[in-house]
Amino acid sequence: MSNNFKYYVPTEVIFGKGTESQVAELVKKYGGSKVLIVYGGQSAVKSGLLQKIEDYLTKGGVAFAKIGGVVPNPLLSKVYEGIELAKKEQVDFLLPVGGGSVIDTAKAIAYALAEPDKDVWDLYEHTRKASGSLPLGAVLTIAAAGSETSDSSVITNENNGEKRGYNDDLCRPKFAIMNPELTMTLPDYQTQSGCADMQMHTMERYFTNQGNLEITDSMAEALMRTVMTYAKILHEDPANYEARAEVMWAGSLAHSGLTGCGNGGNDFASHRLEHEMGGMFNVTHGAGLAAIWGSWARYVYRDCLHRFVKFAVTVHGVTPGATDEETAMKGIEAQEAFYRSVGMPTCFSELGISPSDAQILEMAKRCSAAVGGSLGAAKVLYEKDFVEIYRMANH
Ligand code: NZQ
Ligand code: ZN
Repeated sequence: MSNNFKYYVPTEVIFGKGTESQVAELVKKYGGSKVLIVYGGQSAVKSGLLQKIEDYLTKGGVAFAKIGGVVPNPLLSKVYEGIELAKKEQVDFLLPVGGGSVIDTAKAIAYALAEPDKDVWDLYEHTRKASGSLPLGAVLTIAAAGSETSDSSVITNENNGEKRGYNDDLCRPKFAIMNPELTMTLPDYQTQSGCADMQMHTMERYFTNQGNLEITDSMAEALMRTVMTYAKILHEDPANYEARAEVMWAGSLAHSGLTGCGNGGNDFASHRLEHEMGGMFNVTHGAGLAAIWGSWARYVYRDCLHRFVKFAVTVHGVTPGATDEETAMKGIEAQEAFYRSVGMPTCFSELGISPSDAQILEMAKRCSAAVGGSLGAAKVLYEKDFVEIYRMANH
C-alpha cells in the first residue's frame, strides 16, 4: 500500500570537480551580500579549501566573516558564539564549509538570527517551532550526514550531554556545492562512518510496517547496494574519484526524503539510540550507528519480517533459508559482515566504549524522554526496549 507523502527538496545541487569556484555567484543568486563562513577543526584550513573559498568570495564581491572550531557532535556553545559574531558582523547569509557538524551549526545560527530574542535551544527541546531562518548554502567536505539537502540539524548541549535534533524545511540549504575531490583527504574511519550513516538513513526509512511504494523500495535497495560497493572500494583506494562521487551523491539522496516517499513513517530508532551514545561518549555518529544496528535488528526483526527478508534477498543477495526468520537473520549477519570488512564496529567494545549498566539506564531514559515515550515503525519501542538493545550491544 502506498501512503500519501510530501516531497520537498529545494536545494540547488552543484556537483563535480572545481564547483567550489561558483560559490560567490551562488551566494549572490540567493540574496547574500555578507556571509558567515562556518568551518571545523582544521581540515578545511590544512587542505587550502578555506583560503580558496575566501579568495572566490573576495573576487566575486561578497564580504565575509568567519568562525572555526566546530567539533564533531557540534556544541551549543559554538552556536551561541556564532550568533554573537553574526550579529556583530551583520551577516545576511550562512556559508558552512565542512560536514554535518559544521552545516548543522550554521543551521542553528541561521534559526537564531531570524528570531534574535529567543533561545535557539528551545527548538532542539521541541518547546516551540521556528518561524524563520537566514538563508544558507553549503560547501560539503564529507559524504555522510546529508545535512546539505536535509531539513535536519543536530546539536549537543554540553551542559547536560543532550544531543538533540530539530527538523524543519526552513533550514534546507539554498545550494550545496559537492565536489567529490574535496573528500579525498578524509581518514578512512570518517569515510566509512559516513557511508554507514547514509546507508542507515535509507534503512531507517526501509524497515517499516506501514506500507511502501515499489519505486521507493527499488531506489532504496539500489542506494544501499551502491554505498556498500563503493565503501569497500574506498577502503582500499581512498583517492578513487568515481567511488567518491558515488557515495557523495548517495549521501544526499539518502537523507533528502527521496527514499522515504510513500512509506508512511520512518523508524529512526537506531538514530535516536545513537544520539544518546554520541551525547554521552562523543562517538563518531556513523560508527555508533553501525555498533547499535545489529542489536536493534535482532530485537525487532520478527515484528517486521517481510522487510528483513526483502532486505536480505535484494540488498545482500542472500539465498533464502528454510524459513523467513532464517533468511532475515542471514541478512542481518551479512550487514554486520560488511561493517567488519570496512573496519566499522558491530558492538560497543569495537566502538571503544563500555557503558556501565547505570549509564545504559540513563541513555535509555534520555532517549525515551527525547522521543516522547515511544518510537519505531518496524516495532514500537519503549524505554525498557531501549535498555535491552543497549545491553545486547554492550559486549
Ligand atoms: O573538523 P575538521 O577538522 O574539519 O574534521 C572533520 C571531523 O573531524 C573531518 N572532516 C570533514 N571533512 C574532511 C575531514 N577531514 C579531512 N578531510 C575532509 N575533507 O571529519 C570529521 C567529522 O566531521 P562531521 O562534520 O562531524 O561529520 P558528519 O558529516 O558525519 O556529521 C556528523 C554530525 O551530523 C549529525 C550527526 O549526529 C553528527 O553530529 N547528523 C546530522 C544530520 C542532518 N543534519 O541531517 C542527520 C544525521 O543523521 C546526523 O545525525
Ligand atoms: Zn545519521
